Amino acid sequence: MIPPKKYAKEARIAPKGFNTANEFFESVFKDKNMIWMGQNTNHLHKDNFIMDAMANCVESKEYCKYPPPEGFEELKDLVLKDLDLENMDILITAGGTESLYLCMNDILESHNNVITSDPGYLIIDNFASRFASEVISVPIYSSDNDYKLTPELVEENMDENTKVIVLIDPLNPLGSSYTEEEIKKFAKIAIENDIYLLHDITYRDFAREHFLAAKYAPNHSITIFSFSKIFGMAGLRIGSIIANPEIIASVRTILINDLGTNVIAQAGAIAALHSKNKWIEYITTTTRNNQKIIKEAVDKIDGAFIPVYPSDGNMLAIDLKGTGVDPVEIAEYLLDKNIFTRQGTYTSKLFGDNYLRVSFSIPEEQVKIFAKEFVKAVETLQKH
Ligand SMILES: Cc1ncc(COP(=O)(O)O)c(C=O)c1O
Repeated sequence: MIPPKKYAKEARIAPKGFNTANEFFESVFKDKNMIWMGQNTNHLHKDNFIMDAMANCVESKEYCKYPPPEGFEELKDLVLKDLDLENMDILITAGGTESLYLCMNDILESHNNVITSDPGYLIIDNFASRFASEVISVPIYSSDNDYKLTPELVEENMDENTKVIVLIDPLNPLGSSYTEEEIKKFAKIAIENDIYLLHDITYRDFAREHFLAAKYAPNHSITIFSFSKIFGMAGLRIGSIIANPEIIASVRTILINDLGTNVIAQAGAIAALHSKNKWIEYITTTTRNNQKIIKEAVDKIDGAFIPVYPSDGNMLAIDLKGTGVDPVEIAEYLLDKNIFTRQGTYTSKLFGDNYLRVSFSIPEEQVKIFAKEFVKAVETLQKH
């Protein structure tokens, strides 16, 4: 038998009652009544230009052809224009996930280390661990540092082998985000040490304000872009990598998806960017209002609190430590009520026992159901 690689131990664990994690996912996915608060996906788009563009692409049977390997020029230009980074280069990929992997693969050498945060999006640590000697996952679950990786924490934790600082901004799972001053400080650190900021902006458009590291450190920033969240296209698997032409030229040499990214997804993404100003306000207003409904429910429970409120993402964490309720148990309880949420261990190795993560880019009626069931769930589990 081929021995497992060092990172194999981090493979997904099957939840109770399922043989594999995949079986669990499929069962939740196929349940049409499930309230979807477990994946930070966006269910607020109405029938719109995005759907129409994809339907047209299917009807024309354009999908019989391979697309250009690095993405359609129109889509590349639209993403760069959306970010006001028109002097940068770009590759269209099968999602932020592929983008993250390609960057880690391209940049890291075996003696390097990478700075990430805990809580954070753990697949990034997993990818980094495949190419670096060490992943330094800095504990940030504290109000002392506003529940985020600060420039000071980075400086305390980095050394001469640090090559990449990962900034997830806004941060999954907490929804914390960076001020312009903080981004400038990170940019200074990257330039002075000649290292990279991997700026994962998957949740950017939910934020009240957002600042791109690429503006302040154009040659030391790599921006990871996703169509999964604000654009509501998670199942279509499309995203991109934006960086200076030299970095992109290097990543180009290790591309996996050499025959290009799904043409239907690209047609949808082009329509999504063209039409963004027509729907974005509805989505941000609804998600901000939904957060309030969740906050009101959490405020009813002694010992529970939301570490970062308001969240700048479409998700937030609810700290349950003071209630004595186990996040795994409450996630299972809610799943029984057809509400899919995530226990903290999905996004934290150190603080997973503290919180439940819920996303709220779903219709308001469903958030109201959650709010009611959540309060009942805590009360019921506290009695056990
Ligand atoms: C921080 C972060 N980056 C990347 C991704 C993955 O994005 P994509 O669906 O584009 O692969 C996620 C998904 O939840 C995420 O939370």
